Amino acid sequence: MKYKSLKLIFLLPILMNLISCTEFPSSKNSTNATKETDVKEAFLDSLLNQMTLEEKIGQTVLFSAGWDITGPTLDTNYINYLKAGKLGAIFNVHSAKGTFEFQKIAVENTRLGIPLLFGYDVIHGHKTIFPISLGEAASWDLDLIERSTRVAAEEATASGIHWTFAPMVDIARDPRWGRVSEGAGEDVYLAVKIAQARVKGFQGDDLSKNNTLLACAKHYAAYGAAMAGRDYNSVDMSERELRATYLPPFKAALDAGAATFMTAFNDLNGVPATGDKFLLTDILREEWGFEGFVVTDYTSVMEMTRHGFSKDEKQAGEQAMNAGVDMDMQSGIFLRELNALVAEGKVSESRINQAARAILDMKYRLGLFEDPYRYCDTIREKETHYKAEYLESAKEMARKSMVLLKNDRQVLPLSKSKKIALIGPLAKDDFNIIGSWAAQGDRNGKAISVFEGIQELLGKTADLNYAKGCEIMGTDKSHFSEAIRTAKQADVVVMVLGESENMSGEAASRTDLNLPGVQKELIAEIKKIGKPLVIVLMNGRPLTLEYENSVADALVEAWWPGTMGGAAVADLLFGEYNPSGKLPITFPRNVGQIPIYYNVKNTGRPYEKDGPEQRFRSRYIDVDNSPLFPFGYGLSYTSFEYSDLSIDKPTLNFEEELKIEVTVKNTGNQDGEEIVQLYVQDLFGSVTRPLRELKRFEKIFLKSGESKVVSFTLSSEDLAFYTLDMSFKAEAGDFKIYVGTNSQAVLEKHFVLN
Ligand code: GLC
Repeated sequence: MKYKSLKLIFLLPILMNLISCTEFPSSKNSTNATKETDVKEAFLDSLLNQMTLEEKIGQTVLFSAGWDITGPTLDTNYINYLKAGKLGAIFNVHSAKGTFEFQKIAVENTRLGIPLLFGYDVIHGHKTIFPISLGEAASWDLDLIERSTRVAAEEATASGIHWTFAPMVDIARDPRWGRVSEGAGEDVYLAVKIAQARVKGFQGDDLSKNNTLLACAKHYAAYGAAMAGRDYNSVDMSERELRATYLPPFKAALDAGAATFMTAFNDLNGVPATGDKFLLTDILREEWGFEGFVVTDYTSVMEMTRHGFSKDEKQAGEQAMNAGVDMDMQSGIFLRELNALVAEGKVSESRINQAARAILDMKYRLGLFEDPYRYCDTIREKETHYKAEYLESAKEMARKSMVLLKNDRQVLPLSKSKKIALIGPLAKDDFNIIGSWAAQGDRNGKAISVFEGIQELLGKTADLNYAKGCEIMGTDKSHFSEAIRTAKQADVVVMVLGESENMSGEAASRTDLNLPGVQKELIAEIKKIGKPLVIVLMNGRPLTLEYENSVADALVEAWWPGTMGGAAVADLLFGEYNPSGKLPITFPRNVGQIPIYYNVKNTGRPYEKDGPEQRFRSRYIDVDNSPLFPFGYGLSYTSFEYSDLSIDKPTLNFEEELKIEVTVKNTGNQDGEEIVQLYVQDLFGSVTRPLRELKRFEKIFLKSGESKVVSFTLSSEDLAFYTLDMSFKAEAGDFKIYVGTNSQAVLEKHFVLN
């Protein structure tokens, strides 16, 4: 059907203006603004002038179509709101056909025919599923991460989606919180770089292209600091900690052009993020200059009544809108209450106009007023999903995301001639392997299991013998005997163990981070047989692995590696790929150590393992302070030697750059990649400073025996922090740099900033 372009109807007077070259009403003082911007502003002015207050409020309303369940409530009346022109966007609907049908109602059955925005949780792929975000972060490969989100955008936009609720940029230091799986881990610098890469991948370089997705930086803010790692729990922290640790990835996403932000469920220092003017207006808009729109998380406007912040839903609507929220996801309070709030003067119409305009602006930028059906192309959809090049990228990311945690006696890589026993509840799994938040990824046989990956690699003649042994959860040990039998007949045992996909992610906090069910008991029985034992883990968060680490000869963290995961695991097990991943989050020895992360303060009584005085020191009397595996840790099948760390000057002034060089040599017999990491320590300051902070990293490839000089530069800007008076700046004084293969790097140099 021929779409009557809204733009055309309202553009005529605007275009006449252009032709007459008179000044635009909206661009009085913007003589140097491009004509394109003038046209857009004038279009939006004209459109808003046509809209009733109800229609403007309608733009601020978002409901789920319920094709996926991503929250506690559903409202099946959304169709009626849509037909009444009281719905600005819909989420949890997908496919070119499905979105076309909803869009047609908006365009043809509402007074102004304003197109809908379609949102969806495209987190780590849409059909071709990449490793979970925490796994991608372990690759430290920013180009590949951008590629991953670009592929996700290509596939999602081919299915009618305009807007993804990603990237999740919450810093997380508590693996009891299941949503650590969705982010980039514990470190600010790495998370900032990854946030930028993800926004760029989703949004591309021109939102008017129909393969671009609006990004949504979430969950603003500090959701990852939920008390006790319990999802949705309160957050309380100093403004210094908020600004130093939890806000930088959001600012990075904004600087990368993130079109939207999503408010967090939690209250922060007593104020629910959804009603927090300090976060949503003072910082986001006034300090940072954000021009997109803010959507709440699922029913979080209503939840302010539960927080005990709003006396009723009407007040919640007033507080949210006045704090800076533009769109209400799923609570329907903006829909029900804003009219009256405006009539009562509690919410200004200009605030409604501002919210509606920010949303219409994004629809304009996506080209939806030109053609609201431009993302609804069934032929393109069929041609785009699962393209070979996308599957190849997913396999490359899966390979690079895996972290080799242990490899005693070089038991890996395995010889292809070995008799392999493949045991465990995730060994033949093609369901959990694509992880949580897997959008429209197929869980019915599309993903490659480890068993299939090994079969594919070794050929059908491979001497590969499988036994499940047990389930992921539960107490049933009745299949242990078959697994034991299988292991006895093999040369080497590979166990694939871990969590189910819904054991990490939203609403999946755990107080016990051991392998669930009877998987540990199964390991113990298999260990008794005395064959070389390789354990591959598929999980969405750090687990407590002291036992597994003590009995396995090799230990591989594969996360949930996605559609091509099994093929990537096979490549790693048999040496087709030499692992290069590094942990983006600390693995604790036990839950009692949590929160545990690398960039901690020294305290006044630091515990030095070999120090002269042990008792009155900051330590546990039952467990070492150190983690099982530190941030930045990851082994290779080869070995790398760091030497000749040098700096070009012992003293740096505030205008100079410090040049750092280090020599890295591949001292093993395999080519491989290494992620060279540079940490900085500010030895003293007007407030206490972390022992070390990641400030640079570079991933390099070295052939066996090859050496390379890796260079970094630092300036005083890299040394800035929130000082005692909260100004963000570097302070003169003594510093150290540490360069090496993980956050416990020992090569160091001292310099002075003055
Ligand atoms: C969920 C999540 C959020 C997601 C949204 C829409 O509750 O908190 O991350 O984007 O609802 O599905």
